[in-house]
Amino acid sequence: MTGPEPAEAGRLLAAARRPVVFTGAGMSAESGVPTFRDAQTGLWQRYDPQELATPAAFRADPALVWGWYEARRRGVRRAEPHPGHRAVAAIVARLPDTVVITQNVDDLHERGGVPAPVRLHGSLFAPRCSACARPAPIPEDATAPEDDAAPGDGVASGDAVAPGGMPAPPDGRVTPPACAGCGAPVRPGVVWFGEALPSAALDAAVGAASGCDLLLTVGTSALVHPAAEIPLVAARLGAPVVQVNPVPTPLDAICAVNLRGPAGEVLPALVCAAWPDADAG
Ligand code: APR
Repeated sequence: MTGPEPAEAGRLLAAARRPVVFTGAGMSAESGVPTFRDAQTGLWQRYDPQELATPAAFRADPALVWGWYEARRRGVRRAEPHPGHRAVAAIVARLPDTVVITQNVDDLHERGGVPAPVRLHGSLFAPRCSACARPAPIPEDATAPEDDAAPGDGVASGDAVAPGGMPAPPDGRVTPPACAGCGAPVRPGVVWFGEALPSAALDAAVGAASGCDLLLTVGTSALVHPAAEIPLVAARLGAPVVQVNPVPTPLDAICAVNLRGPAGEVLPALVCAAWPDADAG
């Protein structure tokens, strides 16, 4: 990256003591996990969120929805954190009061070295009962041919496998397991459109953004609320906001610095700019 921006962003990070790192789907794009709205590759360019990511969709066709999320979970399982994830962990290691807030439902921050990010939209690895909310075990992944498939969404490659390793119907439908407590269908532990965010996570995110002295926003289109409010909370309270995104977003105007590039390249460079002696991960 050229121009004054990287050095300026490095200076802001070096001066911070209570930074927030706020991430979206773009943070995991270089690990092969598709974003939602990127042209052609974004999930919502290929699938109708109303058919797959709402409570009504699950009630209407639980096997379609469960199959889709199971395929995404296996796709994420095959993905690996990239240098950007490790750079975020390096920031946390250097500044222990850092709070990492993510909209993502993959576990790449944790595998990249960030133990407990604040999860605004849940996780692909936290299924629960759709009726009594009892946590449910993550299904065993059969050692099926799909394991050597490319990382990522695991959906388009038609690699859906029914419990017990039998090939799932070509449409990817997989019957969700029954809750061990009440017998109702188990659902993915993600936040669907029209559902409230987990209040504890939202409170923690707003609290961190209100008290931060720098907010680094990475790989989000900032179109989905209330999550997209988080950078605005920090800016309103005077914290500088630094954005990492290859393209402009609605956040550009509130940012002290806009770093145009992929997270996997920009974040390690940012850590080095802030702390030349640092191992950016
Ligand atoms: N590095 C950084 N940013 C990237 C990269 C990359 N390698 N690749 C893409 N991006 C950017 C895109 O330019 C886009 O602005 O990441 C952003 C991804 O935007 P979305 O697909 O809209 O994802 P996100 O903002 O996380 O969506 C928010 O919407 O669908 C729901 O619940 C879902 O959490 C999700 C929420």
